[in-house]
Amino acid sequence: MTSVKNETASAVRLADYRPPEYLIDTISLTIALDPTETRVTAEMAIRRNNGTPRNAPLRLDGDELSLQSVRIDGKRLSGDAYHATPDLLTITAPPEGAFTLTVETLVDPTANTQLMGLYRSSGNYCTQCEAEGFRRITYFLDRPDVLAVYTTRIEAKKDDAPILLANGNLTDSGDLPDGRHYAVWNDPFPKPSYLFAMVAGSLGVVEDEFTTQSGRKVDLKIYVEPGKEPRCAYAMDALKRSMTWDEEAFGREYDLDIFMIVAVSDFNMGAMENKGLNVFNDRYILADPQTATDQDYANIEAVIAHEYFHNWTGNRITCRDWFQLCLKEGLTVFRDQEFSSDQRSRAVKRISDVRLLKSHQFAEDAGPLAHPVRPNTYKEINNFYTATVYEKGAELIRMLKTLLGPEGFRAGMDLYFELHDGEAVTVEDFLAAFADATGTDLSQFMLWYEQAGTPALAVTSAFDATAEKLTLTFEQSCPPTPGQPVKKPMHIPVRFGLVGPDGQDLSYGAVAGATVTGDTIHVVDERHRVTFSGVKAPPVPSLLRGFSAPVKLVGGLTTGEFGFLAGHDSDPFNRWQAIQNLAMGLLTETTAAAHAGKPVPSDDSFLDAMGAIASDTGLDPAFRALALQLPGETDIARDIGEDVDPDAIATARNALRSAIGTALGDIFRSLYDTLADSGPYSPDADAAGRRALRNVALDYLLAAGGEAAEARARDHYFGADNMTDRLAAMTSLVHAAAPAAREALTDFHDRFAGDPLVIDKWFAVQAAAPFAGTLSKVEELTTHTAFSWSNPNRVRSLIGVFATGNPTQFNRADGAGFEFIANAVLKLDRSNPQVAARLLSAFRSWRALEPERRERAEAALRQVAATTPLSADVQDIVSRSLD
Ligand code: PHE
Ligand code: ZN
Repeated sequence: MTSVKNETASAVRLADYRPPEYLIDTISLTIALDPTETRVTAEMAIRRNNGTPRNAPLRLDGDELSLQSVRIDGKRLSGDAYHATPDLLTITAPPEGAFTLTVETLVDPTANTQLMGLYRSSGNYCTQCEAEGFRRITYFLDRPDVLAVYTTRIEAKKDDAPILLANGNLTDSGDLPDGRHYAVWNDPFPKPSYLFAMVAGSLGVVEDEFTTQSGRKVDLKIYVEPGKEPRCAYAMDALKRSMTWDEEAFGREYDLDIFMIVAVSDFNMGAMENKGLNVFNDRYILADPQTATDQDYANIEAVIAHEYFHNWTGNRITCRDWFQLCLKEGLTVFRDQEFSSDQRSRAVKRISDVRLLKSHQFAEDAGPLAHPVRPNTYKEINNFYTATVYEKGAELIRMLKTLLGPEGFRAGMDLYFELHDGEAVTVEDFLAAFADATGTDLSQFMLWYEQAGTPALAVTSAFDATAEKLTLTFEQSCPPTPGQPVKKPMHIPVRFGLVGPDGQDLSYGAVAGATVTGDTIHVVDERHRVTFSGVKAPPVPSLLRGFSAPVKLVGGLTTGEFGFLAGHDSDPFNRWQAIQNLAMGLLTETTAAAHAGKPVPSDDSFLDAMGAIASDTGLDPAFRALALQLPGETDIARDIGEDVDPDAIATARNALRSAIGTALGDIFRSLYDTLADSGPYSPDADAAGRRALRNVALDYLLAAGGEAAEARARDHYFGADNMTDRLAAMTSLVHAAAPAAREALTDFHDRFAGDPLVIDKWFAVQAAAPFAGTLSKVEELTTHTAFSWSNPNRVRSLIGVFATGNPTQFNRADGAGFEFIANAVLKLDRSNPQVAARLLSAFRSWRALEPERRERAEAALRQVAATTPLSADVQDIVSRSLD
């Protein structure tokens, strides 16, 4: 069990940043592995930083460490020369000149249930150091602006740990007495401690190689649980494609002679970009057609790329402090999104990314956990690996590219790499490279990093046919967020087209009132008017094409105009958006009716628009699949914004789904039949798109009901030759409460028992079932032999999916869903505070609920807040949630 800090953690502030007083140039680690008593010897070359007073005490961070000895230049220090607690080692009066500090600590990897620092997973040893895990291995200046060259010697029993890995290149290895052996790794690139990694154990390996653009050969290795090697082929392929792409798109070549990835089954996050030794949650490595869905394949590709791309954006150039987290994360997400767009369909990728942005980031931005992309204060940094830092952070890079154009953007990136390679820098340094490379003033753009909240952009349009003039008036505002009551206007790039009656973009003459460059209107003032002359026909303005800014666009168009754009916009993103807007308008209306207990009205013109999309064979099937999906229940809740009744939303949405399924039954049946794939399974984007559309059709048929649809879905389940189809059929059957659901669930369980990642899907489908019995089912499943409170993937798939993927049951009117999650958070907090805190953030929209549920959610939060002890992680989330 973890020791839990009881005191209220004090806030860290960006404004208080000071350069480190001491620097550590090299560290030589000897790690003698033992399941409960691992001995770590760290020999560090330390010197005072410029400006540090002589004899300033040296304070090294620790966390739950047990100190064995301290030496300076080889001489053991007496007890009055230092002071040690598990969290801090102070050398009272260090030598004036450079010196060598040798510190010996003992750590217990088996007791490490929080999965930070050195821990065990499936009998193997592994480490996780971001953000502040290195201090759980040895005392160190555990901050990203201290860059050191690492040499790591690992010693272990040969039988227990035949494989010994660390960052960099293998420089030595051999046998030791008593059945032990050792390996020495050296990483020549100075790096912050958060990028340190070490892995040891019994692992299988898949090997390949890559030749870089300058002709260097790089060994590629993926290590997995023995026996799982055949499931690594797609990950390896994605890695090689990522390496090629970064050379072509950003001119970035890999720098070491070896690149290793290790898949582990116990991991708090998705994956980690440790230098030369990425550690992955195994769900983002392992795939074969029988066990992984098309979405899993796409995720693997994206995460492999993301971690690989960090080698330049994060590792070679790193963050000065953790406030700058978006410097590496937002930028690297942008890079992986661009990679996937180039590998697959750009429009489909953009729509999926924006869906994710809205459902996670917009929700976060609208509630008590809202924070700027670059926060200026934090209590627990682990709680800032958020949708805002990652996904909104990526949107800011995308806007930067829109503002500067592709060439300007590339010039800025090149200059950034040139100026800051090997440094730990800030968002200001990053933007300065773009400003300098292109001669652009980015001071207003910087506000995007500093101001939290989703700006609203209200538009009105007026067309004067005789004068052939179109006037668009924009008004921007940004709601108050914690600590930021008032916002300044931001630079909002609005990509646009004026769609004429034939669906083509109209040309126009002079533009007055605002800067328009290419297809972009630059809205920079609070109120901004732009007039286009020479507009020869009545236009429908298509605004914010490609979702060119992370804002909420309000007003401007009628339902008829959205319908027109849905059918005609040349920008596929805005076609999708137009359909979503139509659906959202309808659903908020029908939700109000359902809430008032009135019958839920239907809308034939909307059904016609859906039918037109479904049967338009000129459109990519993947696009059609996305366009046919209604906004999620949580998206509808966010749109409604206050007094939310999740049951009314579900009633309205289900009514519309069944109306669509009924009205378009013939189209869906024919889609289902014609999209059947004859060849062997391939995870490529086209094949995946056809499966997606076919499964959407099946789901609508089930939503409409009837025995024929149920029989079809049952056949789809049992006839499936891949996980995508099998899981889609099972999900539809379960959610439609079809009689065959039980049969499918039983079969699925028996078929995949013993495969934890697949059983996660089985947990998730049941946890998301929108029925009154689900909570007790989830409680019962916590006692299933495959479930474990100590494995983050199991917890996320059962408990996490219930909390975030089942709006009606988490938000049960009797409060039982809230209570269950509050108790789960408290239970988890004793073993893994990070996972507990993340689960607790499921409450982030509680204030928008109707009064009865709001009261029950608040009671559950207060119950958490009143518990002692609480981890700093949960303490931070609960106090901000209640603020
Ligand atoms: N830096 C990792 C990534 O985004 C995420 C991560 C953060 C992993 C903290 C573990 C711990 O690529
Ligand atoms: Zn990352």
